[in-house]
Amino acid sequence: MTLLKIEDLNKSFKALHILKGVNIEVNKGERHVIIGPNGAGKTTLFNCIYGTLPLSSGKVYLAGKRIDHIPSFKRTEKGMGRTFQKNNLFEELTVEENVRLAIMGKKKYRLNMFKPMQNYNDLAEECHRLLEEWEMTERRTVLVKELSYGEQRLLEIILSLSTNPEIILLDEPTSGMSPTETSRFVKLIKKIPDHITLVIIEHDMEVVFSLANKITVLHHGTAMMTASPEEIRGNQMIQEIYFGGGALSHD
Ligand SMILES: Nc1ncnc2c1ncn2[C@@H]1O[C@H](COP(=O)(O)OP(=O)(O)OP(=O)(O)O)[C@@H](O)[C@H]1O
Ligand SMILES: [Mg+2]
Repeated sequence: MTLLKIEDLNKSFKALHILKGVNIEVNKGERHVIIGPNGAGKTTLFNCIYGTLPLSSGKVYLAGKRIDHIPSFKRTEKGMGRTFQKNNLFEELTVEENVRLAIMGKKKYRLNMFKPMQNYNDLAEECHRLLEEWEMTERRTVLVKELSYGEQRLLEIILSLSTNPEIILLDEPTSGMSPTETSRFVKLIKKIPDHITLVIIEHDMEVVFSLANKITVLHHGTAMMTASPEEIRGNQMIQEIYFGGGALSHD
């Protein structure tokens, strides 16, 4: 089943035509990785899908329904998660407090005056479960500002999971991570249940090939090819452009 469909998407900034008729279909459960050189338009594509930027033309569908005219927060309500930027974490609060706030944000704890204690217990339980599941229990009392950069990014992903999204968009999650943090990230992503669909922009080819079951190559604002990792690896043109010339290296 197609969960996310991008149809003939164009995005211009004044005279600059950045995305040129992009068509991509993401199936439910897919780990769909978008690769392409710097400036290809990957982040712009995410901004258009998420509604941070208006499209110039084209359509975006989530589960068969058009979402390109609705605001970002409504896309979140419809199940579209995106990793928060670092400054969306509360740096002066602990890991645990951040997790609690994220859970409270998705539920209507604040508005329910009838069962406050029950809600509080549910909250504590869910928080505990999330911390255990994502191996953050030991770090629960640490202030977010004391976490390493990579740990903060991992926490962002955990928080985005706490809202039970249908689909999560991750823009270069491993950039700035140490090798240990990157392998922790890969492990974390592999634990995410199949019913949650992931679209990941990634430059680290080892990460790409260990996670992707579908890859789209975005090149000069066009989706040049969408295929299985095996096909991408075996494609002569992609080989020459990306792997031979090192065009995917991120520096
Ligand atoms: N708000 C904007 N106004 C004008 N030009 C923009 C704007 N945002 C992005 N661009 C341009 O659009 C092009 C694509 O940028 P984008 O950030 O989407 O690329 P990217 O593929 O994510 O690159 P990277 O791999 O470096 O993150 C770039 O040339 C960039 O300068
Ligand atoms: Mg980018």
